Amino acid sequence: MAKRKIYQIGDDTLRQVSRPVTEFDDKLSMLIDDMIDTLIYADGAGLAAPQVGVLKRIFVATFDGGNTIIEAVNPVIVKAKGKRVAAEGCLSIPNVHEKVERPRHVVVNAFDRHGNPIVLKADGFPASCYCHEIDHLDGILFTDRAVKN
Ligand code: NI
Repeated sequence: MAKRKIYQIGDDTLRQVSRPVTEFDDKLSMLIDDMIDTLIYADGAGLAAPQVGVLKRIFVATFDGGNTIIEAVNPVIVKAKGKRVAAEGCLSIPNVHEKVERPRHVVVNAFDRHGNPIVLKADGFPASCYCHEIDHLDGILFTDRAVKN
Protein backbone atom coordinates (compact mmCIF):
# COMPACT_ATOMS: atom_id res chain seq x y z
CA MET A 1 0.00 0.00 0.00
CA ALA A 2 1.13 3.51 -0.72
CA LYS A 3 -0.13 6.98 -0.06
CA ARG A 4 -1.05 8.96 -3.17
CA LYS A 5 -1.24 12.68 -3.84
CA ILE A 6 -4.68 14.19 -3.25
CA TYR A 7 -5.67 16.51 -6.08
CA GLN A 8 -6.86 19.92 -4.93
CA ILE A 9 -9.67 22.18 -6.08
CA GLY A 10 -8.69 24.07 -9.21
CA ASP A 11 -7.34 20.91 -10.82
CA ASP A 12 -9.51 20.07 -13.84
CA THR A 13 -9.29 16.34 -13.03
CA LEU A 14 -11.84 16.90 -10.23
CA ARG A 15 -14.35 18.19 -12.79
CA GLN A 16 -14.26 15.18 -15.12
CA VAL A 17 -16.83 12.38 -15.31
CA SER A 18 -15.22 9.08 -14.33
CA ARG A 19 -15.55 5.88 -16.35
CA PRO A 20 -16.92 2.59 -15.03
CA VAL A 21 -14.41 -0.04 -13.96
CA THR A 22 -14.36 -2.98 -16.38
CA GLU A 23 -11.31 -4.95 -15.18
CA PHE A 24 -11.40 -6.36 -11.65
CA ASP A 25 -7.70 -7.15 -11.59
CA ASP A 26 -4.63 -6.73 -9.37
CA LYS A 27 -4.20 -3.17 -10.57
CA LEU A 28 -7.67 -2.29 -9.27
CA SER A 29 -6.92 -3.98 -5.97
CA MET A 30 -3.68 -2.00 -5.63
CA LEU A 31 -5.48 1.26 -6.42
CA ILE A 32 -8.14 0.58 -3.77
CA ASP A 33 -5.47 -0.30 -1.18
CA ASP A 34 -3.67 2.95 -1.99
CA MET A 35 -6.91 4.92 -1.71
CA ILE A 36 -7.61 3.43 1.73
CA ASP A 37 -4.05 4.24 2.81
CA THR A 38 -4.38 7.79 1.52
CA LEU A 39 -7.76 8.28 3.20
CA ILE A 40 -6.58 7.03 6.58
CA TYR A 41 -3.35 9.04 6.43
CA ALA A 42 -5.35 12.19 5.60
CA ASP A 43 -7.82 11.40 8.41
CA GLY A 44 -10.82 11.80 6.10
CA ALA A 45 -14.18 10.03 5.91
CA GLY A 46 -14.31 9.36 2.19
CA LEU A 47 -12.14 9.49 -0.90
CA ALA A 48 -13.06 9.05 -4.56
CA ALA A 49 -10.66 7.86 -7.27
CA PRO A 50 -10.62 11.20 -9.18
CA GLN A 51 -9.19 12.77 -6.01
CA VAL A 52 -6.04 10.72 -6.58
CA GLY A 53 -6.10 11.49 -10.30
CA VAL A 54 -7.75 8.29 -11.51
CA LEU A 55 -10.94 8.81 -13.51
CA LYS A 56 -12.62 5.55 -12.52
CA ARG A 57 -15.86 5.03 -10.62
CA ILE A 58 -14.50 3.97 -7.23
CA PHE A 59 -14.75 5.37 -3.72
CA VAL A 60 -13.61 4.32 -0.29
CA ALA A 61 -14.95 5.47 3.08
CA THR A 62 -14.23 4.86 6.74
CA PHE A 63 -16.55 5.15 9.73
CA ASP A 64 -16.57 4.22 13.42
CA GLY A 65 -13.09 5.61 14.05
CA GLY A 66 -11.57 3.42 11.33
CA ASN A 67 -13.29 0.20 12.40
CA THR A 68 -15.46 0.15 9.28
CA ILE A 69 -13.89 0.49 5.86
CA ILE A 70 -16.11 0.60 2.80
CA GLU A 71 -14.94 0.17 -0.79
CA ALA A 72 -17.34 0.61 -3.69
CA VAL A 73 -16.72 0.08 -7.40
CA ASN A 74 -19.22 1.40 -9.97
CA PRO A 75 -21.59 2.64 -7.24
CA VAL A 76 -25.15 3.62 -8.16
CA ILE A 77 -27.74 5.16 -5.82
CA VAL A 78 -30.82 2.99 -6.27
CA LYS A 79 -32.94 4.44 -3.47
CA ALA A 80 -32.94 7.81 -1.70
CA LYS A 81 -35.36 8.92 1.02
CA GLY A 82 -35.78 11.91 3.28
CA LYS A 83 -33.64 15.00 3.65
CA ARG A 84 -30.78 15.98 5.92
CA VAL A 85 -28.79 19.20 5.99
CA ALA A 86 -25.30 18.92 7.50
CA ALA A 87 -21.90 20.53 7.18
CA GLU A 88 -19.47 18.78 4.86
CA GLY A 89 -15.81 19.08 4.05
CA CYS A 90 -13.58 17.49 1.43
CA LEU A 91 -9.93 16.45 1.32
CA SER A 92 -9.69 18.28 -2.02
CA ILE A 93 -11.04 21.55 -0.56
CA PRO A 94 -9.07 22.18 2.66
CA ASN A 95 -10.50 24.33 5.45
CA VAL A 96 -13.92 24.76 3.84
CA HIS A 97 -17.07 23.49 5.54
CA GLU A 98 -20.50 24.25 4.17
CA LYS A 99 -23.98 22.90 4.73
CA VAL A 100 -25.31 20.53 2.08
CA GLU A 101 -28.74 18.92 1.75
CA ARG A 102 -28.60 15.19 1.07
CA PRO A 103 -31.03 12.28 1.30
CA ARG A 104 -31.29 10.98 4.88
CA HIS A 105 -31.34 7.38 3.72
CA VAL A 106 -29.76 5.82 0.65
CA VAL A 107 -29.26 2.39 -0.83
CA VAL A 108 -26.26 2.05 -3.11
CA ASN A 109 -25.60 -0.88 -5.42
CA ALA A 110 -21.92 -1.42 -6.19
CA PHE A 111 -19.23 -4.08 -6.58
CA ASP A 112 -16.32 -5.07 -4.40
CA ARG A 113 -12.77 -5.25 -5.79
CA HIS A 114 -13.37 -8.80 -6.98
CA GLY A 115 -16.46 -7.90 -8.99
CA ASN A 116 -18.96 -9.30 -6.49
CA PRO A 117 -22.16 -7.22 -6.18
CA ILE A 118 -22.63 -5.44 -2.84
CA VAL A 119 -25.48 -3.38 -1.38
CA LEU A 120 -24.71 -0.45 0.93
CA LYS A 121 -27.54 0.86 3.10
CA ALA A 122 -26.89 4.05 5.02
CA ASP A 123 -28.63 6.62 7.22
CA GLY A 124 -27.43 10.07 8.20
CA PHE A 125 -23.71 10.75 8.01
CA PRO A 126 -22.70 7.68 5.95
CA ALA A 127 -25.56 8.42 3.51
CA SER A 128 -24.24 11.97 3.03
CA CYS A 129 -20.75 10.57 2.61
CA TYR A 130 -21.79 8.11 -0.11
CA CYS A 131 -23.64 10.86 -1.99
CA HIS A 132 -20.63 13.19 -1.67
CA GLU A 133 -18.25 10.53 -3.01
CA ILE A 134 -20.55 9.51 -5.88
CA ASP A 135 -20.81 13.20 -6.81
CA HIS A 136 -17.01 13.21 -7.20
CA LEU A 137 -17.38 10.51 -9.86
CA ASP A 138 -19.49 12.95 -11.88
CA GLY A 139 -17.18 15.92 -11.37
CA ILE A 140 -19.44 17.53 -8.75
CA LEU A 141 -17.99 19.08 -5.58
CA PHE A 142 -19.95 19.65 -2.35
CA THR A 143 -19.46 23.39 -2.68
CA ASP A 144 -21.62 23.22 -5.83
CA ARG A 145 -24.50 22.05 -3.64
CA ALA A 146 -23.91 24.29 -0.62
CA VAL A 147 -27.11 25.50 1.04
CA LYS A 148 -27.20 29.24 1.39
CA ASN A 149 -28.30 30.24 4.89
NI1 NI B 1 -14.78 15.12 -1.31
